[in-house]
Amino acid sequence: MGNQLLKGKKGIITGALDENSIAWKVAVRAHEEGAQFILTNAPVALRMGALNELAAQTGSEVVGADATSAEDLNALYDKAAEKFGKIDFILHSIGMSPNVRKGKEYTDLNYDWLVKTLDISAISFHKMMQLAYQRDLMNEWGSILGLSYIAAQRTFPKYSDMTEAKALLESYARTFGYYFGRKCKVRVNTISQSPTPTTAGSGVAGFDAMLEFAEKMSPLGNATADDCANLCIAMFSDLTRRVTMQNLMSDGGFSSMGVSPEVLDAFAGGR
Ligand SMILES: NC(=O)c1ccc[n+]([C@@H]2O[C@H](COP(=O)([O-])OP(=O)(O)OC[C@H]3O[C@@H](n4cnc5c(N)ncnc54)[C@H](O)[C@@H]3O)[C@@H](O)[C@H]2O)c1
Repeated sequence: MGNQLLKGKKGIITGALDENSIAWKVAVRAHEEGAQFILTNAPVALRMGALNELAAQTGSEVVGADATSAEDLNALYDKAAEKFGKIDFILHSIGMSPNVRKGKEYTDLNYDWLVKTLDISAISFHKMMQLAYQRDLMNEWGSILGLSYIAAQRTFPKYSDMTEAKALLESYARTFGYYFGRKCKVRVNTISQSPTPTTAGSGVAGFDAMLEFAEKMSPLGNATADDCANLCIAMFSDLTRRVTMQNLMSDGGFSSMGVSPEVLDAFAGGR
């Protein structure tokens, strides 16, 4: 089905791990809208095998690449160039913090792990853009997206060092958005998504309570992974050509709220 919003467009989608992944939903929707793309993930994630199902479903090829490795990314881009020539969109949907995963408090960070967090979750975004820029891989009016979280701008203590990773990610979108815009009219944006039950999301301490809190705070309710995927499709389509260097909120209104009666009710306890 779909409206062929991405007809003729070619791209690269990172980060689909299983059917809960935001990138998985983006791939399904992009296929419905007529796009062709390469699916990529870290070699360790490919061993799970689920990505092959998505590849079959969407008629895509899978190319393994650790997004922190310039060598892997160059091999990925070689494949994309061979298959498509230039491409129209890139989705960066990658996040991982060893500190979060191993329950390290923000006040007791392991700095080697912090460097890994930043490398995987943010610097990889710059690396993907830098290599695409230098190789002249993007078509004019192409679109590059990264996925962020409101903790980049407000304090969510349990998000730990992912907080700074997302702040950096959003900053990279603004700065590279300038260079890409000037060079070849390519736009670069981040989408700040509601808490979403995925492998990465549910790794954060207190995730279920956070999900419920955000649901009660947001006038439209939490944005689901499908909602996020739809916004990604809009951002890859020609309908958003001059939207760039933005952090777009896909959060049901959460970020504009101070408090909601629904949250207060949860505390009132019949008072
Ligand atoms: N789930 C949420 O609550 C939420 C909210 C806002 C933003 N996000 C962001 O959305 C993006 C996608 O996450 P998700 O929630 O779909 O979870 P997910 O766990 O399904 O996806 C994260 C992906 O990152 C990949 N990855 C990790 N290290 C990698 C590496 N070195 N090279 C290449 N890929 C690597 C994983 O294999 C996985 O596919 C992330 O940037 C995440 O921070 C998630």
